[in-house]
Amino acid sequence: MRYHIHTYGCQMNVRDSEAVAALLEAAGHERAACEADAQLVLVNSCTVRDMAERKAVGKCGNLIAAKEGRGRRAEGSSVRIVGLMGCAVKRLGQDVFKALPHLDFAVGPRRFGAIPHLVERCLAGETRILELPDDDEVPAGLDAHPDASRGGASFQSHVTVLLGCDNRCSYCIVPDVRGHEYSRPAREIVAEVRALALRGVKEVCLLGQSVLRYGMRTKAWTDADAPSPGGFTEPFPRLLEALSAIDGLMRIRFTSAHPKGCTDELLRAYRELPKVCRHLHLPVQSGSDRLLAEMGRRYTRAEYLDAVRRLRGFDPEFSVTTDVIVGYPGETEEDFEATRSLMDEAGFDNAFIFKYSPRPGTRSAELPDDVPAAEKERRDQVLLADQEVRGQSRNERLVGTVREVLAEGPSIRNAARWSGRDSGNRIVVFAPPPGISPGDAVRVRITDAHPQVLVGEVDCMEALKE
Ligand code: 5AD
Ligand code: SF4
Repeated sequence: MRYHIHTYGCQMNVRDSEAVAALLEAAGHERAACEADAQLVLVNSCTVRDMAERKAVGKCGNLIAAKEGRGRRAEGSSVRIVGLMGCAVKRLGQDVFKALPHLDFAVGPRRFGAIPHLVERCLAGETRILELPDDDEVPAGLDAHPDASRGGASFQSHVTVLLGCDNRCSYCIVPDVRGHEYSRPAREIVAEVRALALRGVKEVCLLGQSVLRYGMRTKAWTDADAPSPGGFTEPFPRLLEALSAIDGLMRIRFTSAHPKGCTDELLRAYRELPKVCRHLHLPVQSGSDRLLAEMGRRYTRAEYLDAVRRLRGFDPEFSVTTDVIVGYPGETEEDFEATRSLMDEAGFDNAFIFKYSPRPGTRSAELPDDVPAAEKERRDQVLLADQEVRGQSRNERLVGTVREVLAEGPSIRNAARWSGRDSGNRIVVFAPPPGISPGDAVRVRITDAHPQVLVGEVDCMEALKE
C-alpha cells in the first residue's frame, strides 16, 4: 500500500515515524507522494500539552471522515486505513475509540514495531485494534532507518539511545506515556551509527528525554564495548567517544539534557571530541527557585546558571537553547520576572516558550490552573520579545567569524539561497557555490545577523574535521 505518516510532537516522534516508515517499506509498502495519494495514513501523536493532543486526534478524525466519503477532503482521497500511534494513544487507552469510533488501529509509543502486522490485520477486516506497550517494553525496529534513495533519511539521522523517563517532573506526562527509562546497549547503537555512516550519513542526533542519563539505570556497556583504556568512564561521554571513532561521521548532536548531566566528564568530551557539536538543549522551565522546587526539577537557579557558565567557559560561542513554561500554577509576577532575568543571565541562543497546560494524572494537575489564559499569553509574548532581542545580539557577535556549515538545501524563504547549520545548530543562509549537494561542508563567513538566522558568504568548500 502507499503510506503516509503525519507526525506531531518532538524529535522522538520524528524518529519513531522514520522507523515505522522503514518497517512498512521492509513489509512491501511504499511511500505515497503526498497524503491525498496515500491508502494507509498514520498519525503520530503528542500529548505533552492538551493542544498537541487535540491536533493529532482532530487530524485523525478528518482522515476517517475522508475515508468514509465525508468532509472537505473526501473527494479524491484514496485512504483505506487510518491508524493513530504515539503518546496520545497511551494516555487515552480505550477512550481513543470514544474520540474516534471508526479508527482502524491505535498503538502506543513503545509498540510501533507492531504496525506492519496491524496493517495486515486491518486488511483482513479487523478494525478498532488497540495495542498498548508496557512501561518497560523495548520496541522492535528501534534501529530501522528508511532507505535514502526512496526519499528517506538524508545525511542526517536521529538515533534513539534512551527510552522513557523516570524524572517525574510535576507537570510532565511523558513518564506516563513513554514508560521507564531504558538505555539501549552501546554495542547496538554503535552498530546502528556505523551502518548509517556507511550509507552516507554525516550527522547523527542522539535522542533521549534526558539523554545525559544514558547508561545510568540500565547497564549499557560490557567491558568488551569499552572504546579505549584510559578514555571516558561515565556512560554517556563513553558513548560519544565510541561514536566519534566512526569513519565518515562528521557530527554528533544529542538532546535533551538536564543540568545534573553537565559533569566534568561531559565537558571533557566536548573539549576532546571535535565531532561533538557545541550545542546543548538544556530545558530550564523556570527561573524561580520556588517553582523549580515545586516542579521537582532537582536544581536551583544558581546550579542551572553554573552549568551554562561552565559550557561557555571553554567556548564562549557554545550554543545553549532551552524550554520555558509560563503560567505554572501559582506563578506570580515575581516568579515570572525571575524567569526573565534568568534568561538574560543565561544568554540563551534560542528558547521555546510553552503555556502551562494541566495534564491528567500529573502532580501539578491537582493544583488550580490559576494563571488566566490572557496572562499566560502576555508572559509568553514578553519572553518571545526578549528572546528576539537576545537572539539578535548573540548572533551579531558572530558577524565576521567563519562558521563550519553542513549544507541542507535551498532555504525555505528564498530558494536561490541555501541553508545549513553550524556546530551550534544555528541556521546559516548563503549563496550556494555551483555543484553543492546536501551534506557538503562549507565554510561561511558571516556578514549579517538576524534573531534566528545568520547570513554569510561561502569562503571555500572543503571537508570538515575528518
Ligand atoms: N504544559 C506546558 N508545557 C509543558 N512541557 C512539558 N509539559 C508541559 C505542560 N504540562 C514543555 C516543557 C518541556 C517541553 C518539551 O514541553 O517545557 O521541556
Ligand atoms: Fe518531562 Fe522532566 Fe522527563 Fe523532561 S525530564 S520529559 S520534563 S519528566
